[in-house]
Amino acid sequence: MDNPVSLRRDGNVAIITVDNPPVNALRHGVRKGLFECFTQARDDASVEAIVVTGAGRTFVAGADITEFGKPSQPPGLMDVISLIDDISKPTIAAVHGTPLGGGLELTMGCHFRVAAAGTRLGLPEIKLGLIPGAGGTQRLPRLVGVEKALPMILSGDPIPAKDALAAGLVDEIVEGDLVTGAVAFARKVLAEKRPLTRVKDREEKLKNIRANPQKFDEIVAQHAKKTRGLHAPAAAIEAIRMTLDTPIDEAQKKERELFLKLVVGDQSKAQRHIFFAEREAAKVPGIGKDVAPREIKRAAVIGAGTMGGGISMNFANVGIPVTIIENDEAALKRGMATIEKNYQMSVQRGSLTPENMGKRLALFNPTTDLNALKDADIVIEAVFENMPVKKELFGKIEKIAKKGAVLATNTSYLNVDEIAQVTSRVPDVLGMHFFSPANVMKLLEIVRGKDTAPDVLATAMAVGRKINKVPVVVGVCHGFVGNRMLSARGIEAEKLLLEGALPQDVDGALTEFGFPMGPFAMSDLAGIDVGWRSRKERGVRAEIADTLAEAGRFGQKTGKGFYLYEGRSPRPDPEVEKLIVDASVRLGVTRRNVSKEEIIERLIYPMVNEGARILEEGIATRPGDIDVVWLYGYGFPAWRGGPMHWADTVGLKKIRDRLRQLARESGDKRHEPAALLNKLADEGGTFADYARQKAA
Ligand code: CAA
Repeated sequence: MDNPVSLRRDGNVAIITVDNPPVNALRHGVRKGLFECFTQARDDASVEAIVVTGAGRTFVAGADITEFGKPSQPPGLMDVISLIDDISKPTIAAVHGTPLGGGLELTMGCHFRVAAAGTRLGLPEIKLGLIPGAGGTQRLPRLVGVEKALPMILSGDPIPAKDALAAGLVDEIVEGDLVTGAVAFARKVLAEKRPLTRVKDREEKLKNIRANPQKFDEIVAQHAKKTRGLHAPAAAIEAIRMTLDTPIDEAQKKERELFLKLVVGDQSKAQRHIFFAEREAAKVPGIGKDVAPREIKRAAVIGAGTMGGGISMNFANVGIPVTIIENDEAALKRGMATIEKNYQMSVQRGSLTPENMGKRLALFNPTTDLNALKDADIVIEAVFENMPVKKELFGKIEKIAKKGAVLATNTSYLNVDEIAQVTSRVPDVLGMHFFSPANVMKLLEIVRGKDTAPDVLATAMAVGRKINKVPVVVGVCHGFVGNRMLSARGIEAEKLLLEGALPQDVDGALTEFGFPMGPFAMSDLAGIDVGWRSRKERGVRAEIADTLAEAGRFGQKTGKGFYLYEGRSPRPDPEVEKLIVDASVRLGVTRRNVSKEEIIERLIYPMVNEGARILEEGIATRPGDIDVVWLYGYGFPAWRGGPMHWADTVGLKKIRDRLRQLARESGDKRHEPAALLNKLADEGGTFADYARQKAA
C-alpha cells in the first residue's frame, strides 16, 4: 500500500513522518498523506502539539520534479500549507539533510522550525528555471527579511543551519536525536505558552523595507547581475517585491501564477532536463553498484603547467596529498608559484582562509623525480599533447607506479588505447580529461579505453565526484565528445569570417545565444598558437587563425589576437578586419552580409550533427551526456538544455534539412546529416525519444 506518511504519538505530541526515499520529494501520495495526518492530529483533542519530520537521509527536498508538466492531483502543496497555517496547536518542523524548495515551504507553514546540525536549507527553484511556488517568496522574507531572502532565492544556494538560526529561519539547532529534541522543543513551547504567530502574519522583518521601498531596488541591483536572458530571476524579483505592499493571500496567488507560467516554459524544461541528465550521467553501463572503486589516498600529477597545476589543486582542495612532478626545477617553481597565486586570489576574494591556504599548500609534494609517483594510488599525466612523448612517459610510469594504481592521461584528443598499449597494465589505464582552468571547470570527461577495467572506471568516477567535478564517461575517438564537437564549430566559425562576418559578429551572436564567450574570444584566451601548432603537426590550415599566429598575434597573452586587449577586455581591431578581408580576396570568396540567425545555424547545427554521430558510434551513452559535457565544459547556456536538447526544441527535421542544404551548397561532406539524425527527422522524433527507447 502507498503509505509514505505516518503518524505516531509521543504522549501529547503527534509525530508525522514522511518516508518517501530517496529524498522525500512531495509527490502526490506524500501531499495526500501529509494532508490526512495533519487533519487527524488537528482533530484529535488529546494531541497538543504536532512535529513533522522526514525519514532517511533528508527532510523533504522539494516538489517531485518528475511530476512537473503533468496534470496536478489535489491536494496541492499549498492546500497542505494552508491547512497547517490554520492549526491552533503548536506545529514544529524538525529538519535534517537538505530541506529544499517545497520542503522548506512546508516548514514555513509551521509555527516553528528546529534543525539538526549540518542541515542545509534553501529555495533552489531558480536552478530549475522556476520560482518557489508554494509561498516561499512571501514567507522567507517574513522570516529573514528581504535583504537575506532575495539573494537566497536568486542564487538558489542553501544556507547552513547556523546561518539559518542567526537569520531567524530556524528557531533552534538540535544536538543529538532530532525527533527527541523536537518533541522537547514542543513541550517547552506548550509550557511557556509561547505565542503561536503564523509565518504569514509576521510583519516585523518587513517594516524597514516597507518604510524605505527604494532600498528594494538597491538589493536587487546588488544580487541580480547574471540573469541575462533568464525568465525565472525576473519573476522571482517580481514575486518578492509583492512583500512590500500586497496582502499575502493575493501575493501567494500571483506567485503561483508566475510559477505555473515558468513550469511550462522552455527554459525550465531545459534546466529540469539538465538536472536529470547530470544524474543519469553518473550511471555507467556495465558498472553496477557491485563494482567497488579502488581506494585513493594519494595522487600524483605529472606536469606542472596550466593543466597539471589546476588538476593537482583539485586534490589538495579536498585534502588528498598530491605529488606534482616536472622535468626541471625552473618549470616546477613556476608551476608552484601559479598554484600559490591562485590560492592567494581565493584568499583575497574571501572564499578561502589563509589558514586553509596553508593547509592545502602543505599537501603538495613538488619534485623533479619521477620515482616519487611510486606511492600514488592514482597517477595523472598532464604533459605536452604529443603521442610519442606520452607513450615514452607511460612506459616509464608503469615501471614505477605501485601495483593497482590507476594510470590516467589528461589528453584532450589522443588515442587512449594507443597510450595504454605501451604498458603491461592496459586495464589500469584510462583518460581523465579536465577542462581549463582545471581547478574551476566542473566537467571531467572520463575516457573509457577498450580494455579499461570496470573498477578503474568506477574509481575515476568516484574520484571525479570527490574532487567536485561532474564526470561523464566517453569513448575513445579524436577529441572525445567535447573537443570533437568544438572542432566542428571552429571550422564553421573560420568559414564565416571568410564569407563576410567579423569576429565580433560571430562572438556577439553566440553570447546573445547565452554562451559566456564566443569562439574567437575563447581562442584568444586559450592562445591562438595552441591550435596553430597542432594544425601544423597535422598538416592542416585555418587561414585566418594561422595568419594571425604567424603575425605573432597569439591572443590575450600577447595583447593581440582576434581582438586588441587592454587588460582582459577585447576591442575589435581594424587590422584584423583588413587581414580577414584580404584573406577572402586571396581565396576568391565574395564577402556578403551574414545574419545572426545564420551564425547560430552554421555554428550549432554541425555540432548537433557531430553529436548524433557520437551517439551512433557509442562514444557517448546518451544525448543527455553530451548536453552535460557542453554545459559544464564549454558554458552552453543551461536554460537551453545543451546542444542535443536544444536541437529537439528547434526540430530535428529543420536541422537536418538545413544541413543537407549546407552540404549541397558547400560540397562539404561533414554537413551530410548523420544516419541517426536522418532517422529521427524522418520519424518526427527527438533525441529525447531516442534516449527513452535506448533506456527501455
Ligand atoms: N524530485 C524528484 N526526484 C528527485 C528530487 C526531486 N525534487 N531531488 C532528487 N531527486 C532524485 C534524483 O533524481 C536522484 O534519482 P536517481 O537516484 O534515480 O538518479 C535521487 O533523487 C538522489 O538525488 P541526488 O543523486 O541528487 O542525491 P544527492 O544526495 O547528491 O542530493 C539533493 C540530494 C540535494 C536533494 C539533490 O537531489 C537536489 O538538489 N535535488 C533537487 C532539489 C530541488 O530542486 N528542490 C526544489 C524542487 S522545486 C519545488 O520544490 C517547487 C515548489 O516550490 C513546490
